[in-house]
Amino acid sequence: MANNEKVAVARLLEAADKFGTPLYVYNEAKIEAQCRRVTEQFHGLPVNWLYAIKANDNPFIMEIIQNQGIGFDTVSYEEVLLSNKFTTDPARIFYTENSMSDVEMDAAIDMGVVLNIGSLNRLERFFQHPKSTECCIRINPAIGDGHHARVNTGDPESKFGIRIGLIEDAVKMAEKYGKKITGIHAHIGSGIKEPENLIAAMKVMLELSQEFPHLEYINFGGGMPTPYRDSDQTWDMARFSELASPVLHRDLEKRPDDFQYFFEPGRWFVAEAGYLLTRVQTIKDQVETTYLGTDTGMHHLMRPIIYDSYHRVVNLNSYNEAADQLYTISGNICESGDILAFDRMMPEAKMGDILAICDAGAYGMTMASQYNRRALPAEVLLKTDGSMKLIRPALSPSETVRDFLDRCGYDKA
Ligand SMILES: Cc1ncc(COP(=O)(O)O)c(C=O)c1O
Repeated sequence: MANNEKVAVARLLEAADKFGTPLYVYNEAKIEAQCRRVTEQFHGLPVNWLYAIKANDNPFIMEIIQNQGIGFDTVSYEEVLLSNKFTTDPARIFYTENSMSDVEMDAAIDMGVVLNIGSLNRLERFFQHPKSTECCIRINPAIGDGHHARVNTGDPESKFGIRIGLIEDAVKMAEKYGKKITGIHAHIGSGIKEPENLIAAMKVMLELSQEFPHLEYINFGGGMPTPYRDSDQTWDMARFSELASPVLHRDLEKRPDDFQYFFEPGRWFVAEAGYLLTRVQTIKDQVETTYLGTDTGMHHLMRPIIYDSYHRVVNLNSYNEAADQLYTISGNICESGDILAFDRMMPEAKMGDILAICDAGAYGMTMASQYNRRALPAEVLLKTDGSMKLIRPALSPSETVRDFLDRCGYDKA
């Protein structure tokens, strides 16, 4: 085992020992490295990066990413409020609405965030608002991609974006109300498999942009993938920049001064930096399947059950031993679908061993729930200076129940 791997395993075991399990652990140095891998690209071009906080909105994680010069991309009014705690300039917050209410729209306009609107009826409501002046619109470019059909957002039939055939109506509507569409946006999906699809969607957007007389920026979305499996190809950001830069350089020649381009990945920044640590509580043979039952489950990491997602699982206590046993890793939720990993060859496990579910830094804790009324895990940051910081304590089981009853306003128990 390489020395740095030994150190990483020892730190994870130390975190589990100190803070208990289940536990989300994030590596600050890895997040910073992922930030640098984007900010170092696109030399000489006005390319900006936003962090889609839906991936992981722990404020300490948001702070690390913001300190690397990256703004925030939000998809709900609640995320806008959270991001607004980090900036004195709400115009740096990009808000992609999705079936937004009038109340949410009014509040976003009052706050002064950049509103990205994905339907004609919402656009009309926006233009009718006495205080609205300009906005971005989300376009469905009819090119989709993603690690699963449920996250393919650029498919022509997906619920997202204004379809290309309605763009003329959007532009006319802006004229009618004397307001401006200053930005256009598309996000084709999450976990893009083919960089060429993103480049193709970018070209569609650049072509469509000619229809907008007041354009100041284009946002090409996020979706850069994570190599969850050993066989997954790593997204080569430098290569992507090499392919996309000439396209943007050519485009920039026809643009006014101060024209800007944006990308807004989420998972890219945090997925590989996160682990969900869990303890083996049950070892059970069921005819052909040997289960390792854990103290976490689908309520803490939903990706396997909603997307059939694969996460590597490492037994930290026998990390270096031969992987000669076949295990299925199950959760502690009362659902037979609550399986975190099927059929994994691993070293022989013992009760109490600590398993690390890898690449769990994105869409892990943000999707977690208290299903079965179970407590949420704590979150810990492994800091670059070698220290560990508890960045969200867990409630104990009794605190979880008390908190629940209090929120229901039920004071008889
Ligand atoms: C509008 C929008 N932008 C960006 C993202 C980030 O996607 P990813 O985490 O795959 O980069 C998402 C995620 O679904 C999204 O809906």
